Amino acid sequence: MPAIPDPTPSARQGTFELCGVSLRGPVLNGSGTFDAIAARRAFGDALLERFPFDAFVSKTITLEPRQGNAPPRLWETPAGMINSIGLPNKGLDGFLATDLPELAQLPVPLVVSVMGLGRDELARLVGAVGERDEVSMLELNVSCPNVETGLIMGADPAETALALERVRPETAKPLIVKLTPNATDPGAVAAAAESAGADAVSLVNTLKGMALHPETGEPWLGGRTGGLSGPAIRAIALEQVAAVASRVEIPVIGMGGIASGRHAADFMAAGASAVAVGTESFRDPAAGRRIATELAELSLPGRRGATPSRGV
Ligand SMILES: Cc1cc2nc3c(=O)[nH]c(=O)nc-3n(C[C@H](O)[C@H](O)[C@H](O)COP(=O)(O)O)c2cc1C
Repeated sequence: MPAIPDPTPSARQGTFELCGVSLRGPVLNGSGTFDAIAARRAFGDALLERFPFDAFVSKTITLEPRQGNAPPRLWETPAGMINSIGLPNKGLDGFLATDLPELAQLPVPLVVSVMGLGRDELARLVGAVGERDEVSMLELNVSCPNVETGLIMGADPAETALALERVRPETAKPLIVKLTPNATDPGAVAAAAESAGADAVSLVNTLKGMALHPETGEPWLGGRTGGLSGPAIRAIALEQVAAVASRVEIPVIGMGGIASGRHAADFMAAGASAVAVGTESFRDPAAGRRIATELAELSLPGRRGATPSRGV
């Protein structure tokens, strides 16, 4: 493969700051929704020249390699989709050896998303990823069961705090906690994460959903259930972002069905400092840049001051 020119020096200089990291703007991607390595192969240098996001969040990696769930993995809903991908990835060693060098070529800061099946596993991931110079921030995907307790880490404030306390000493880099909407009180989880040392929270991850095979009545997805995303969840995400933002001082990264600059502005009006675009990138790979442009054109009066949208 030919050497990719490193366009980083000027492009990394930004006007927007997230957890002390300088970005050129506030629009990120949702983890797992934009394959930058495949996109680089498809679009070549054009991807680097017009990269759609102001920071890139990797898909979630785990300590050991994972195959992911059996197919089918996607179900389209009237306003979004249910995915049951199951976090296929090369594992920590494979990621560091193969994916990280490619992601380091992107012209924006890199956020690596990690998930551990327990606190020790999470700590190993944070330590190993956090020491790499190519990585600017880490995102902790806590939407998974802790095999030590059987509880979903991010569904419970105490579990979340214990996880943060365990991993915080492993890195000085900013830690973003990705909250699950499948929690009774996401605001309480966010407050627990903040008290235990999180630098930011991001939300929402997907909502648990299910689709049935039209003929057999059996679950359509290989993983039986999946995660609902896209416009269908935007109103829920907006409410949760507002609830969380009222409980914490650290930055909130809002996502869930954002498909336009107006939607992004709504999330910022609800208290988000930055936003992420997920499902919309499947429809339009350049959505992140379009949304950033539309957001800038709205010339927001302030963090909580934008005018709410009407309709879609
Ligand atoms: C196909 C797919 C894969 C995803 N993979 C991950 C992942 O690896 N890690 C993670 O934290 N979130 C993952 N997500 C959740 C998204 O990052 C995002 O939180 C969610 O989809 C809501 O945003 P959206 O409605 O804009 O898509 C995934 C979502 C989709 C649709």
